[in-house]
Amino acid sequence: MSAMSAEVGYFVPVRTPNIYFKKVCIVKMRMLMVVLRRMALGWVAFAMGQSALAADPARGQVLWNKPGESTINMCSDCHGVTPNQNVKNVWNASGTIASQGIPSVIRGRIAIQRDMFEFASWPDTDLADLAAYINAVRYGKPIAAPTLSNEECLFNWAESQLPSVFNAPAVQVGAISSLNYRLYGAGAVVNALGHNAADSQVWVLAPGLGFAAPTPLGVSSSAGLFAASRAAGCR
Ligand code: HEC
Repeated sequence: MSAMSAEVGYFVPVRTPNIYFKKVCIVKMRMLMVVLRRMALGWVAFAMGQSALAADPARGQVLWNKPGESTINMCSDCHGVTPNQNVKNVWNASGTIASQGIPSVIRGRIAIQRDMFEFASWPDTDLADLAAYINAVRYGKPIAAPTLSNEECLFNWAESQLPSVFNAPAVQVGAISSLNYRLYGAGAVVNALGHNAADSQVWVLAPGLGFAAPTPLGVSSSAGLFAASRAAGCR
């Protein structure tokens, strides 16, 4: 054993006020760290609990306008553009004003109503968001405003409307001067969707839809598509 290590191991408490203060501080800091760490863990648990419990009416609004397996029919086709009226008893899923709706009513109807069989594969989280949307609309609760740009909104909406053509995720997202576009599909068929800010037109390339070459849809149709995608609450 060297003299050095013996010296280090031998603790002489020289309690100058300064050192004492430092020691107290370190102990206090350690306690504070423990408390903070516990709080952080608590917050994580809380946040996880929240995300598991809180349904998202804004996402429900998107699903309301998303086709099921037919790739054609969506809730809004049969129950109204929004569930603001009790079309076909859709309010049976709204629950009370204090609730977030009753997803099990939707699940139950999907099991017995032929028109709704095609939504059988939608997971519980989707039905929870849909029920929350029906609840929010019925009771006039605020639904978070979309944060996407008009273009992103339109592209996302097109992907949900025509998933077999604009099959997300896009293989390429880009811009050529004033044209923003998304490119879909691999292999033989390539589809694309664009918006040219310079001429305010939506451009489509989709051979399966009759657009063998990139085609502008015209200013008024393009504006109509933007409006429709906004109305669908795109996110
Ligand atoms: C092709 C038409 C069609 C589509 C699409 C459709 N529904 Fe329905 N839905 C019906 C019919 C028909 C009924 C039964 C109406 C009645 O009870 O008179 C119904 C009933 C309901 C009810 C009431 C359930 C009950 O037991 O009282 C809810 C809630 C509902 N639908 C939600 C939805 C949701 C959410 C979607 C989209 C995921 C959807 N529906 C898609 C046709 C449709």
